[in-house]
Amino acid sequence: MIVCEQVERCFPAATGAVRALAGVSVSIARGEFVAIKGPSGCGKTTLLLALGGMQRPSAGRVSFEGRDLYALSAPQRNRLRAERIGFVFQLFHLVPYLTVRENILAGLPTGSDVGAAAARVETLLRQLGLRERAAARPGTLSAGERQRTALARALVKQPALILADEPTGNLDPANAAEVFRHLAAYQQAGGTVVVVTHGNDAAPYTTRTLNLVAGRLVEADRPVNTPVNADQPIPSL
Ligand SMILES: Nc1ncnc2c1ncn2[C@@H]1O[C@H](COP(=O)(O)OP(=O)(O)OP(=O)(O)O)[C@@H](O)[C@H]1O
Ligand SMILES: [Mg+2]
Repeated sequence: MIVCEQVERCFPAATGAVRALAGVSVSIARGEFVAIKGPSGCGKTTLLLALGGMQRPSAGRVSFEGRDLYALSAPQRNRLRAERIGFVFQLFHLVPYLTVRENILAGLPTGSDVGAAAARVETLLRQLGLRERAAARPGTLSAGERQRTALARALVKQPALILADEPTGNLDPANAAEVFRHLAAYQQAGGTVVVVTHGNDAAPYTTRTLNLVAGRLVEADRPVNTPVNADQPIPSL
């Protein structure tokens, strides 16, 4: 679904260029639930944005569903992103003057049939425990309710891929587990998830962890469902 080839990203800085990504190559298949982990500043957000068509790499290629993302024109890329990719951020990014229901509807690409999506919005409100809060504005919600609203907004367009940047960073463990359970349900239904996370909250749900250190992937785990390569030497004890 996503193929990242030798992706580099440099940022200009007073002390010379910062190399946020230093040659990242990775393939993510449809149906995976991938965690990206690593210390602060190692390039996790930069990688997530590059995967989602929001940050052009300085070098290398990112393809999504077989299309070279950064070879597309900006309008083509924006359209693809709006239709196929849902984002969830650490700080929710809800529109303060819209209600929960309206914030969720705002996740639809422009030109969508809002009437047809209405039933889906009601289902999401129920599944995410937001029915009672549908008419509330974000300022009056708890942190868990805000993040579930942000999740519903990402899910309403039925995206092929969800990219989430520390979606549970502001939540207590119970609310964090609930967000991961909803992401896992979406994955079980055929979606693909890439989530930046600290700690091990996501571990019960992920199929693979990518460890990023100083812009490079290190010892990426083998996907749990992939058979062990028979050609690989058996490690000696
Ligand atoms: N727009 C930018 N301009 C300049 N430098 C940037 C920019 N965005 C990121 N960087 C730098 O690139 C490096 C990687 O940043 P990034 O935000 O990807 O890290 P991160 O792993 O997500 O960190 P955190 O866990 O703190 O969110 C950092 O050194 C950061 O300062
Ligand atoms: Mg970050």
